[in-house]
Amino acid sequence: MVELGVNIDHVATLRQARRTYEPDPVRVAIVCENGGADSITVHLREDRRHIQDRDLRLLRETVAVRLNLEMACEDEMIRIARSVRPDQVTLVPEKRQEVTTEGGLDVAGRIDVVRRCVEQLLEVGIDVSLFVDPESAQIDASAATGAGAIELHTGAYAAANHRERPAKFAALELAGARAIASGLALHAGHGLNYHNVLPVARLDGMHELNIGHAIVSRAIYTGMEQAVREMKRLITS
Ligand code: PXP
Repeated sequence: MVELGVNIDHVATLRQARRTYEPDPVRVAIVCENGGADSITVHLREDRRHIQDRDLRLLRETVAVRLNLEMACEDEMIRIARSVRPDQVTLVPEKRQEVTTEGGLDVAGRIDVVRRCVEQLLEVGIDVSLFVDPESAQIDASAATGAGAIELHTGAYAAANHRERPAKFAALELAGARAIASGLALHAGHGLNYHNVLPVARLDGMHELNIGHAIVSRAIYTGMEQAVREMKRLITS
């Protein structure tokens, strides 16, 4: 069954807009669990624009499902991850100026650096997933790092218009099959919403979807527990 990782970064984005104490992502994580989230995902960015170190520490103490930390392949982040010990780290590229994570991690171009990060995380028992574009070279390089999973970047699929979408989806299908054949667990995320998620959820071997913006947006209308429940029902239908 496909698992749902709920990314709660944007709860912290709202809090940071006023530099106050609410809404608190730690409280929201509990509500997500009540709605059926299989994991809670947060991205600790170098500029701390949303999730703060305090959130990560408290989430580690309070989250009952799996905690997935998205982070850059950087020494400071590796130190934090090895100290906090999330269940999983998803390595992502990070640029200060971007609104959100723009492309996948260039594993093929930086394989030695990525392998070293993967090793340091595996060494302390943290599962590692690599966020990559749906390209053969990136899948093959990911398998060679020792990581156990890849998360396919679904941003191009999500942003495509009707004419472009079949080709973007075919790329996800091909990359997903290659990942599974290489023994990697298959995850996907970015830009997925209630309208475009189903074909991705039904890809052969899909194990985990990480979804944030659409769920937090719907929560404004319906409440978080309901928004999570609807997404969980959809991806497991
Ligand atoms: N997966 C990764 C690796 C991401 O960086 C993000 C965005 O933080 C997501 C999933 C969730 O994307 P969205 O907020 O568009 O659902």
